[in-house]
Amino acid sequence: MALPRHVAIIMDGNGRWARKRLLPRVAGHRAGVTPVRVCIEQCVRQDIAALTLFAFSSENWARPPEEVGSLMGLFLDALDREIDELQSNGVRLRFIGERHNLSQVLQQRISSAESRTAGNSRLALQIAVSYGGRWDLVEAARLLAQRCAAGTLLPQDIDESLLSSTLSVSDLPDPDLFIRTGGEQRISNFLLWNLAYTELYFTDQLWPDFDAASFQIALDWFASRNRRFGLTGEQAGAGS
Ligand code: FPP
Repeated sequence: MALPRHVAIIMDGNGRWARKRLLPRVAGHRAGVTPVRVCIEQCVRQDIAALTLFAFSSENWARPPEEVGSLMGLFLDALDREIDELQSNGVRLRFIGERHNLSQVLQQRISSAESRTAGNSRLALQIAVSYGGRWDLVEAARLLAQRCAAGTLLPQDIDESLLSSTLSVSDLPDPDLFIRTGGEQRISNFLLWNLAYTELYFTDQLWPDFDAASFQIALDWFASRNRRFGLTGEQAGAGS
């Protein structure tokens, strides 16, 4: 069965999950930690090399301050609680996004988790926090422009491969499978460049309800897809 090398997930529906139970939204975010753990376990177990989770977008800063504060507290707690297990399972953890917007303590905890797990190679886990696909592209453009201005790069030498290698996730294959829970069928400013040829899977299930069986259904759906990358069906099928 064809397995994705890299899975990217928008974990949506925590608020609605909580509302259905007459609980505060933060209870939905708390319940959303379990499926994060489940997806990491499934990737490790099934030899999927990379997992990228959209935990907090550039736009999420505009949510009510109490919710933003609770989410940041939740990231800090989850990091503290899970880091030993991630380390013992060979997970390399990285955060992508506008890090300077985060509290000092969260930035420090992130840096130390990243250094501690840097040598691991079983699963590359990216958590996108304060991340936006447009931000990522703007950062890359700025960096390349700086190199041109410094005389170390010629504009005509900028190509897809160079731009790609300047983005936040540059050392991994592009996601093969994108999953979004919660019923919306949008990319919502996630990995805009990297998702160009990704298979897009949407489910109405709310994120806290997403479990190992749901993950497997998404993998099975992926295995049934005929990926053509712009070629004809005959070309893409040749040799397979
Ligand atoms: C979107 O649901 C979810 C978020 C903005 C937060 C995601 C965070 C978690 C799943 C917590 C655990 C994460 C880690 C990395 C430990 P929503 O609030 O937009 O839901 P709604 O659309 O139903 O309102």
